[in-house]
Amino acid sequence: MGDCLDLLLGVVLLTSPALGISSCFFDGWTALYLSCNLTQVPQVPNTTKSLLLSFNSIRTVTTASFPFLEQLQLLELGTQFTPLTIYREAFRNLPNLRILDLGGSRIDFLHPDAFQGLPHLAELRLFFCGLSDAVLKDGYFRNLASLTHLDLSKNQIQSLYLHPSFRELNSLKSIDLSLNKIPIVCEHELKPLQGKTLSFLSLADNHLYSKVSVDWRKCLNPFRNMVLETLDVSGNGWGVDVTRNFSNAINGSQIFSLVLTHHIMGPSFGFSNLKDPDQHTFAGLARSSMIQLDISHGYIFSLNFQVFETLQELKVLNLAYNKINSISRNAFYGLDNLQVLNISHNLLGELYNYDFDGLHKVAYIDLQKNHIGIIQDRTFKFLRKLNTLDLRDNALKTIYFLPSIPNIFLGGNKLVTLPDIPLTANFIQLSENRLENLNDLYFLLQVPHLQILILNQNRFSFCHQNHAPSENPSLEKLFLEENMLQLAWEAGSCWDVFKGLSHLQLLYLNKNYLNFLPPGVFHHLTALRGLSLKDNRLTVLYPGDLPANLEILDISGNQLLSPDPDLFASLSAMDITHNKFICECELSAFIHWLNQTNITIYGSPADMYCMYPNSLAGVSLHSISTEGCEEEEVLDSLKFSLFVLVTVTLTLFLVVILMVTKFRGFCFIYYKKAQSLLFKDPIKGRESDMYKYDAYLCFSSKDFEWVQNALLKHLDVQYSSQNRFNLCFEERDFMPGENHIANIQDAVWSSRKIVCLVSRHFLRDGWCLEAFSYAQSRCLADLSGALIMVVVGSLSQFHLMKHRSIRGFVQKRQYLRWPEDLQDVDWFLNKLSQCILKKEKKRKKDSTIQLQSVTTIS
Ligand SMILES: *[C@@H]1O[C@H](CO)[C@@H](O)[C@H](O)[C@H]1NC(C)=O
Ligand SMILES: *[C@@H]1O[C@H](CO)[C@@H](O)[C@H](O)[C@H]1NC(C)=O
Ligand SMILES: *[C@@H]1O[C@H](CO)[C@@H](O)[C@H](O)[C@H]1NC(C)=O
Ligand SMILES: *[C@@H]1O[C@H](CO)[C@@H](O)[C@H](O)[C@H]1NC(C)=O
Ligand SMILES: *[C@@H]1O[C@H](CO)[C@@H](O)[C@H](O)[C@H]1NC(C)=O
Ligand SMILES: *[C@@H]1O[C@H](CO)[C@@H](O)[C@H](O)[C@H]1NC(C)=O
Ligand SMILES: *[C@@H]1O[C@H](CO)[C@@H](O)[C@H](O)[C@H]1NC(C)=O
Repeated sequence: MGDCLDLLLGVVLLTSPALGISSCFFDGWTALYLSCNLTQVPQVPNTTKSLLLSFNSIRTVTTASFPFLEQLQLLELGTQFTPLTIYREAFRNLPNLRILDLGGSRIDFLHPDAFQGLPHLAELRLFFCGLSDAVLKDGYFRNLASLTHLDLSKNQIQSLYLHPSFRELNSLKSIDLSLNKIPIVCEHELKPLQGKTLSFLSLADNHLYSKVSVDWRKCLNPFRNMVLETLDVSGNGWGVDVTRNFSNAINGSQIFSLVLTHHIMGPSFGFSNLKDPDQHTFAGLARSSMIQLDISHGYIFSLNFQVFETLQELKVLNLAYNKINSISRNAFYGLDNLQVLNISHNLLGELYNYDFDGLHKVAYIDLQKNHIGIIQDRTFKFLRKLNTLDLRDNALKTIYFLPSIPNIFLGGNKLVTLPDIPLTANFIQLSENRLENLNDLYFLLQVPHLQILILNQNRFSFCHQNHAPSENPSLEKLFLEENMLQLAWEAGSCWDVFKGLSHLQLLYLNKNYLNFLPPGVFHHLTALRGLSLKDNRLTVLYPGDLPANLEILDISGNQLLSPDPDLFASLSAMDITHNKFICECELSAFIHWLNQTNITIYGSPADMYCMYPNSLAGVSLHSISTEGCEEEEVLDSLKFSLFVLVTVTLTLFLVVILMVTKFRGFCFIYYKKAQSLLFKDPIKGRESDMYKYDAYLCFSSKDFEWVQNALLKHLDVQYSSQNRFNLCFEERDFMPGENHIANIQDAVWSSRKIVCLVSRHFLRDGWCLEAFSYAQSRCLADLSGALIMVVVGSLSQFHLMKHRSIRGFVQKRQYLRWPEDLQDVDWFLNKLSQCILKKEKKRKKDSTIQLQSVTTIS
C-alpha cells in the first residue's frame, strides 16, 4: 500500500514543479510540501504517514529535525536545491519509516550512522546524490534488517568493495548500481553477498570490464555462490571478447535472466572488423540455468552456427534491435526449450525453410519491423507448438502460404490478395495492407475457429466474388475501419457480406465513406452488441437498418440530419456527436428523447450541435427549446376536405387533358394571351419570402450548354429582364475556393426549390448525386416537396432505379420529363415555373419555423 501511495504522489511530485504550482498543505495523513522554499523540516502533526519535502532548500538534517512521528512511513527529501548534510541518527525519530527517498539531493556530508535506528526501512533511494565508494565500504547500511531495495544509481562509485555488514542484510533483494563508474568487479569485493539470492542486480552503464584489461585468473567469479534472478550488465560497451570472458568467468553462478542490451557485439551492416557472437561467446553460461537472455540493441549482423548451443534451458531470447540480416543453418540449435523468440526490428529480408530448425517448443516468434519480402513456404511448417507469429511491418507483397496457427499478425505489409488455401486460426490481424477485393474477406470469414479478424486500413472496394457467404459460428469481433465499402456497396454488390455471422458481437465500420446502408445488411447479426459507424457520411437511418439486439452504437462524425429516436430503442449507450442536425421542428422528438433518455450518451453535450439553420449553427442541442412545435389537432379535419377537393380537381383535369392533347400548342398560346390580359404583371404580385434564390438548378457541368439554352435563357432574370426567377447554379453562384460540399449545402438551404436535371451525365457525376442526396435530406427534414426532379433524355426507369437516392425519390414522388416534342417546351417551362413558385401547404403551423436557442442555459 505504501508503494502505491508513493506512486500516486510521485506523479504529483513530477508534475507540480514543472507547472510552477507549489502545494504546501497537510491533509491528515499526507504532508505535501513540494517547492515550498523550506529551509528546515516543517512542524507536522504526529499522525503524518507521508511527508513529502522534495524541491526545497533544506540544508541539514539532524536528530532534532524531526519531531517523533511514530506513524511516518514515507519520507521524501529528494532534490533539495542546496547541498544536504545529514548527521548521525538523523531519522531516529521516525522509527517506522519504510521508504526513505533522498534521490537527487547532493549529499555533501553523510554521517556513517546517519541511517541507524531504522529497523523497518525497506527501501532506500540514494540515486544521484554524489556519493562515492565510501557509502559501500564504510558500513552505512549496518543494522538495516528490513532493507530490501537499495538504489545507488547515478553516483560516483568507482569500486564495489562491500562492507562486511552486507552479509547481515538478510532482506536485501535488489541493488541498483547502474550509471556509476565501476570499471571492474572481482570476487573478493562482493564476498559479503555470497550465499544470497538477489532478485535484481544492476551494473549497467558503468563501462564495466570494457575500459581496463581484466586478468580473470585473479579476478575470479564476482558472483560466486550467488543466485541472481536478473543481472543487468547493459550499456557497458561489451563486444564479443568481453562477453565471452565474462561468461566463462561466471561459470556456475545461477543467473536466470541476463540483460545485456546496448552492447557492441556484431559488425553491423557494412563493417567487418567487429565479430558476431559465435559458438564460444555464450558457452560459459552453460551451467547458469539461464531462462531469459536479452541481447537486444546491438550490431549483430549474422546469427552464427550453433551460437546459443549451450543455453538449453533458455525460454526467452530477445534479439530485437540488432542488424540481423542472415540466419545460418542451425543457428538456433540446442534451444530445445525456447518459447519466445524476438527478432523484431532487424534487417531480415527473406526467410528460409531451415531458419527456425531446432525450435521444437517455440510458441511465439516476433519478426516485426524487418524487411521480409519473401518467405519460403515450409518455414513455419514444423514448429508444432507455434502459437503466435508476428510479421507486422515487413514488405510482403504476396504470400503463398499461411500457417494454421492460432494467432497471426500480418499488418503493415503490402498484401494485395491472400492465397486461397485451407487455414485455421483464432486471431488474424491484417491491417494496413492493400487488400481490395472483398472476395478475400469472404475467404477469411470462413476460416474455422476464427474469433477476431482485424482488417483496418485496407482498400476493400470491389467484389469479384468466388466465395459465397457461409455460417461462421466462432467470429466475435470484426474490424473493417478505413476501407472503402461504399464503393462496393454502391455498385450493388456484396450486400450479403455479413450474412452468416450470427455470433458476431462487435463490428467496426468507421471511415468507409458510407452514405447509405444496404437494406438488411446487418439483418443476420443477431448477436451483435456493438457497432461503430463513426466517421462515415450517413444522412439518414431507416427503420431496420440497425441490428435488432444492438446495445452500443457509435454513429458520431456522420451527417445525420434529423434522426428518429425510435431507432435507438434497443441501445444502452451511444455516441452521436458531430452530426449535422437540422434544428427545425422535426428534430424536436429527438431533442426531447435526448433530454430524458436513460441510455448512456458518450461525448460532450457541446459536440451535439445544430448545423442548420445558420442562426443556430453550433448551438448545442441541449440548449434548444422545442416550444411551439406540437402538432395541431385541426390537421385531421382538414385532411378530409382536402381529399374531396383533390379528387374533383383531378377528374376535371383529366377531361380537359383529353381535349387539349390534340391542340395543345395552340391552346397554350391562347391561354397565355388571356392570362396576360387578365393579370397585368404577375411578377409584382409575388410576395417575397425568406429564400435567397427561387431555385437551385442542379445539373452536370457537361450539360451546361444545353441548360443555358433550354432553361436559363427562359427563366433566369440575369439572362433576360422578362424572366422572373432568381436561379442559383454552380457555374455562376458557387463561392470559389469554398468547400464544394459547403457550397452545395448552402445552395440547397437557401433556395426555395431544388431542380435536379437528371441526365446521363448527372447520373455519372458524384457531386450531382451528392447534391441530390442533400436536397432529399432537406425534403425529409422539412417534409416539403422542395426537390423537383426533371428527367432529361431517354433515361429508362431502370437507369434511375440503379441509384439508391433517386430510386427512393422515384418511388415516392412524381417527377417531370423534359418534353420530346418541341411544341411542348413552352408548356413545360410554364409548368416548371409553377412548380418553383408553388408554396407548400403548411402541414404544421411551425414546420418551417426554426427552433430557438435557449440562452438562459449557462
Ligand atoms: C518561494 O520563493 C520565491 C522567490 O523567492 C517566491 O516567488 C515563491 O512564491 C516562494 N514560494 C512559496 C511557496 O513561498
Ligand atoms: C499525538 O500527540 C498528541 C498530543 O499532541 C498525543 O495526545 C497523542 O497521543 C499523540 N499520538 C500519537 C499516535 O503519538
Ligand atoms: C579475454 O581473455 C583472454 C584470455 O584470458 C585474454 O587474452 C583477452 O585479453 C581477454 N579479452 C578481454 C577483452 O578482456
Ligand atoms: C565450468 O566449471 C566446470 C566445473 O566447475 C568445469 O568443468 C568447466 O570446464 C567450466 N567451464 C568453463 C567454460 O570454464
Ligand atoms: C520484441 O521486442 C520488441 C522491442 O523491444 C517489443 O516491442 C516486443 O514486444 C517484443 N516481443 C515480444 C513477443 O516480447
Ligand atoms: C429536459 O428535461 C427537463 C426535466 O426533466 C425539463 O425541465 C427541460 O425543459 C427539458 N429540456 C428540453 C430541452 O426538453
Ligand atoms: C430506463 O431504464 C429502466 C431500467 O434500467 C427501464 O425500465 C426504463 O424503461 C428506461 N427508461 C427509458 C426512458 O428508457
